[in-house]
Amino acid sequence: MARKIVHMPSWKLIFVATALLRALVDGQSADNEQSHSTSVAGMEQLLRVESELIDNLNSYADELEQKLYVVRSFVRQMRKENGKALDNPVHYLSNPLNAFSLIRRMHQDWTHWQHYMQQPVGEQQVSHVQLRREQLPSSTDMEEAGDALHRILVTYDLNVSDMAQGLLNGKKYNVSLNALDSYALGIYYYDQQKFGYASQWIFQAIEWLQGPHKLPLPLELDRAEVFHVYAEALIKMNRYKDALQVLHTAATLKKDNLKLLLRKSELETLIRTEPNVVPKKFFTPQAQAYERGCRGQYPQNLKLYCVYNSTTSAFLRLAPLKMELISLDPYMVIYHDVISPSEISELQSLAVPGLKRATVFNQQSMRNHVVKTRTSKVTWLLDTLNQLTIRLNRRITDMTGFDMYGSEMLQVMNYGLGGHYDKHYDYFNSSVAADLTRLNGDRIATVLFYLTDVEQGGATVFPNIEKAVFPKSGTAVVWYNLRHDGNGDPQTLHAACPVIVGSKWVCNKWIRERQQVFRRPCLANSKNV
Ligand SMILES: *[C@@H]1O[C@H](CO)[C@@H](O)[C@H](O)[C@H]1NC(C)=O
Ligand SMILES: *[C@@H]1O[C@H](CO)[C@@H](O)[C@H](O)[C@H]1NC(C)=O
Ligand SMILES: *[C@@H]1O[C@H](CO)[C@@H](O)[C@H](O)[C@H]1NC(C)=O
Ligand SMILES: *[C@@H]1O[C@H](CO)[C@@H](O)[C@H](O)[C@H]1NC(C)=O
Repeated sequence: MARKIVHMPSWKLIFVATALLRALVDGQSADNEQSHSTSVAGMEQLLRVESELIDNLNSYADELEQKLYVVRSFVRQMRKENGKALDNPVHYLSNPLNAFSLIRRMHQDWTHWQHYMQQPVGEQQVSHVQLRREQLPSSTDMEEAGDALHRILVTYDLNVSDMAQGLLNGKKYNVSLNALDSYALGIYYYDQQKFGYASQWIFQAIEWLQGPHKLPLPLELDRAEVFHVYAEALIKMNRYKDALQVLHTAATLKKDNLKLLLRKSELETLIRTEPNVVPKKFFTPQAQAYERGCRGQYPQNLKLYCVYNSTTSAFLRLAPLKMELISLDPYMVIYHDVISPSEISELQSLAVPGLKRATVFNQQSMRNHVVKTRTSKVTWLLDTLNQLTIRLNRRITDMTGFDMYGSEMLQVMNYGLGGHYDKHYDYFNSSVAADLTRLNGDRIATVLFYLTDVEQGGATVFPNIEKAVFPKSGTAVVWYNLRHDGNGDPQTLHAACPVIVGSKWVCNKWIRERQQVFRRPCLANSKNV
C-alpha cells in the first residue's frame, strides 16, 4: 500500500491547507481559555506551577523566620540588660557608661527598630504570586471542574458521601475531598439550583469541619456561614424543620447576628403558615441507554467471530491483525494489539506540545466552538509528519481496505477530569454541510485507537445498538458511518463516557468517502454474511 508522497495532487493540497486553517481556528478559540480541567496532560503543567508557588511560599517563610530571628535575639539581649538595670536602678545608672548607653539607645535605637518593624517582609514573594495568577485556573475552570465531578456522579449513579470519601464506582481510593472542596461544590450546585446535591455537598463540608482536621488561618471557613447556606439549601428542598435546627446551630455559633436571627424568625413564620408542606424528594433520574452503556450494563458483546485477518494486503499476510467483529449493522470491528507501546508513546510526545481544547463544528455559525458537551484536548498530526504517521496511515489502509487520500489528519486526543463527548454522529450529512463534504465526501468510516488503558469509565458507547467498547491500550475500533446509499447511519450515534479514573488517550482517523468508490470491502462482505 506504500504510496509515494512525492506527487501531491492540488486538491489534496487544498485539503491540507483547510485542515491547517481549521486547526489554527481551533487554536484561537481555545487560547483565551486555558481549559485546565479538560486534559490530564494539560493539568500536569498546573502541578509544576503549584510546586513553584509552594517553593515561593517557603522562601517567604524563610524571610519571615529571618526577621523573627533578628527580633527575638534582640528582645532576649535587651531584656537581660534591662532586667539587670531594674534590679538596682540607682546602682546601674550611677555608672556613667550605663547612663550614656541608656540615653543613646533610647534616643537612637528605637527609631531604627520602628523602621525595621515597618519594613514589609517578602514583598518579592508576594509579587511573584501576583505574576503567576494568570496561570491559575479561572472561575470558568472551576465551573467546568464542578460540572465534570457532577457528570461522573450522575452518569455512574454514585453517592455524594461515598465520592467525598474516595469511594468511586465501588473502588476505594486513598483520596478524599476536604471541607473547602465540598463547600465549593455545594455553593456551585446551589447557584445552579441543584439544591438536593448542594445540600449533600454542604453537609459533607460540615462533617469534615466537625472532624479533627484544621484549615490554615487564611483559608478558614466561617462555620456559621456554612450552616446558614446549608439551611438555605434545606429550605429550597422544603425541609423547613431541619433547616430551623441548622439555623439554630448557626445562631449559636455567631451570637447576636441580626441576619441569622431575622432568617430564623422568617422560617418560624413559614413553618406556621405552611404546616403541611411536603419535602421535595431527592431523586436521581432514570438511567437511559447511554448511562447503562457507560456503566457496563449492555448485554455482552457476542463474539461474532475473531480471526487473524490476513487477507487485505501483502503486509497482513506477514503480520496478521487480530480482528473481532462486534456488529454487522452498522459494520463494526475491533482490532487488538494494532499499535505498539513505543508507537503510542511517540504519538503522545508528538501531541503534547500542541494540545488544544477540542471544539465542535456548529452548522448554523459554520464555526468551531468550545462546548460543554465535549471536554478534551486535541492535536492534529499531518499524515506526512514523520515515519510514524506515514506508517499508521498505511496500517489504517491495511485494517480497513480504504485509501487514505483526502481523508482527515490523525487526531490525537487526551481527556481530563470527567472528560467526555456527548452523543454525536461522526458524519456531517452532506445535505446540510455541503461545504465540508464537497471536496472529499462525508466521513465514511471512523478508526479510533485507544492509546491507554482507563482505570474506570471512558467507554465508547453506541446507545442505539447497545454496544460498548471499553478502552484498552493498543486496541482500535473501526465502524462505518454511512449506509450503502451514502446517507448517514443513525445507528452509529455514539458517545465517549466520562472518565472516572485515568488519563484517556485516543487517536482518531476519519476516512472520507470520495476516494473509496471502488473500495468498500467490509460492508460489501458483511451484507452478504
Ligand atoms: C450514600 O451511601 C451511604 C452509605 O453507603 C448512605 O448511608 C447514604 O444514605 C447514601 N446517601 C444517599 C444520598 O443516597
Ligand atoms: C493514605 O495516604 C496517606 C497520606 O496521603 C498515608 O499516610 C496513608 O498511609 C495512606 N493509607 C493507605 C492505606 O495507603
Ligand atoms: C440529513 O439532513 C436532512 C436535512 O436536514 C435530513 O432530512 C436527514 O434526515 C439527515 N440525515 C441523517 C442521516 O441524519
Ligand atoms: C479482513 O478485513 C477485510 C477488511 O476489513 C475484510 O474485507 C475481510 O473480509 C477480512 N477477512 C476476514 C477473514 O474476515
